[in-house]
Amino acid sequence: GGDGGPRETLLAFSAVAKSLSDTVTVPPGYTASVLYRLGDPIAAGVAAYKNDGTDGDYEKRAGDHHDGMEYFGLNAAGTARDPNGSERGLLAMNHEATSDEGGRVIFMHPAGGSPINARVAAEVDKEVAAHGISIVEVRKVNGRFQYVQDSAYNRRITPLTPVELSGPARGSALLRTRYSNSGATTRGTINNCGTGYTPWGTLLSGEENWANYFARGASDDAARGDKSVASLRRYGKNQGSTGRHGWETAGADDRYARWNISQLGATALDDYRNEMNTYGYIVEVDPYGNDTPVKKRTALGRFAHESAAFSKLVAGKPFAVYMGDDSRGEYMYKFVTQASWDAADANATNRIAIGDKYLDNGKLYVARFNPDGTGAWIELNIADTRIATYAGYSFADQVDVLVNARLAADAVGATKMDRPEWCATHPTTGEVYFTLTNNSNRKVDATGSSQMAVDPANPRAYGDSYKGGAVSAPGNINGHIIRIRENGGEATANAFAWDVYLFGSEADADGARINLSGLTADQDFSSPDGLWFSKATGICWIQTDDGAYTDVTNCMMLAALPGQVGDGGKTTLTYTKADSSTLNVDTFMGKKPTADTLKRFLVGPVSCEITGCAETPDGKALFVNVQHPGENTPLADAANPARYTSHWPDGGTARPRSSTLVITKDDGGRIGS
Ligand code: FEO
Ligand code: CA
Ligand code: CA
Ligand code: CA
Repeated sequence: GGDGGPRETLLAFSAVAKSLSDTVTVPPGYTASVLYRLGDPIAAGVAAYKNDGTDGDYEKRAGDHHDGMEYFGLNAAGTARDPNGSERGLLAMNHEATSDEGGRVIFMHPAGGSPINARVAAEVDKEVAAHGISIVEVRKVNGRFQYVQDSAYNRRITPLTPVELSGPARGSALLRTRYSNSGATTRGTINNCGTGYTPWGTLLSGEENWANYFARGASDDAARGDKSVASLRRYGKNQGSTGRHGWETAGADDRYARWNISQLGATALDDYRNEMNTYGYIVEVDPYGNDTPVKKRTALGRFAHESAAFSKLVAGKPFAVYMGDDSRGEYMYKFVTQASWDAADANATNRIAIGDKYLDNGKLYVARFNPDGTGAWIELNIADTRIATYAGYSFADQVDVLVNARLAADAVGATKMDRPEWCATHPTTGEVYFTLTNNSNRKVDATGSSQMAVDPANPRAYGDSYKGGAVSAPGNINGHIIRIRENGGEATANAFAWDVYLFGSEADADGARINLSGLTADQDFSSPDGLWFSKATGICWIQTDDGAYTDVTNCMMLAALPGQVGDGGKTTLTYTKADSSTLNVDTFMGKKPTADTLKRFLVGPVSCEITGCAETPDGKALFVNVQHPGENTPLADAANPARYTSHWPDGGTARPRSSTLVITKDDGGRIGS
């Protein structure tokens, strides 16, 4: 009801100023309330969180480092899915990690916990259970959203929850382990970062920096002596590395031993040498059924996943899922379904089976950006001779291509990007936006194998250290947002047009080389990460995870009303190389924002990241996650409240807690008006 009435003016709110306060700031006329914090109990009979390092039972509490999040509507009685339900619903969110220094988990133990070379099993059990995914019911009570502690929908998925490996790689020799000799299952999910909302009402969760959690012995290269060494190196796991938290040292039980992926036994069925091949996927969860199987969708490729964004749906045609791989110089991907969209599936109740139908069969593509403003989607297929004969890795078959998608993308010459984080699809134009958060290794004079030269799609090599006239060329440290338009608007297109929608920058930075989008003090930001379009208002919400501008402001969220690819034009950036010669880089930029099309909406507390965004279908409640406030508190100060860098949200001398906010407008209007 009411949709026929006059529309409000979007972005009519007053811009929020940059801030270093240990608070959340939103515009006048808005209220941001804390809804769901680390440790909050989500089962009947679980005690309130003491937040002093002594709590346990994280399988029945909110996990840590709230990240990507989606809202799933319920009907008024709470008995079934209602995609339009705005009074009652489920929040499904990722719990990416924990706040730590040198692997020691600062706030989860009384004084930082055991050293990482000799972990105490009971501590490890707590830390493991704080990772994964949570699903929690939220309901309006007297007009305000609360979470429901005893809802039957509430669920935790942790790195120990049994998970199905689904799609082409299921049962492959590459995925067989001591835990699953058949290669059909694995234990759990970890470092879950961005999310996606499927058209049939399930959650997609991206496994990102999973490789960090595994240990690998000092002479494992020689022990293996096969091509798996090249795969492990490409995914960031050199021999002689310990796990992020040393979980592998906590005991002989498989739930600790599985974090050591060294080749130890006679065959792959005796050890965990292949365990890492069971991580790095898009994970699908049906939030409405807390006993439904959780599935890793191997057809969508294995890398450091962020979000998953769907193309517009056309009945009778295949659709696409867009995905980024967040590491310096990694790629942008899309998966195109083999099955054509059947609109009846939007309201099916066998949701995981619908996921099987669309996400287990299709083609995986990687993006190459051309200097003329066009780009190509290159299929990753074993039949491509560049892949079949690649010198860097010997692919056995198409499953090997999916499991080692990074190597296959190397083989076909995809474009190395400035850390692709979230992607999202514009609800009306269908254009796809990707945040490229930053890249300290993007250089004018690139040297060595780890640095990348500026190119048209990653054209900036100067960041905020260009101050007072001194250019120290630190790389693209403020990031940018690139967008693409598929040829003909078709999800199956193999070519696209692109431009750079926005460049992050400090407002007072040199506009010829750094503040290329002409950002004002009401708009300036650095390191875009979360990106999400409201279906209710069409607003593009941009969230930051920054280390370059945090001397001036905490991380933030901005509201944007972007135009479309090609609405700006060609721009030439001019650099001076080390040998004093001139380097011109032509790029394509979107129309510069105005005060009416880009405005800061929220600034978070000290040392947080703002990430994850979801809304009720009526657009009147916006859920936003505040991740890791106070994360830079040193280990030495773990037991010293006076020295925590943040006490948000509980205040006083409390330990900081990652939390979900619910934002409402005091006049009951839609968020962003
Ligand atoms: Fe978990 Fe790339 O952010
Ligand atoms: Ca992120
Ligand atoms: Ca980030
Ligand atoms: Ca993070």
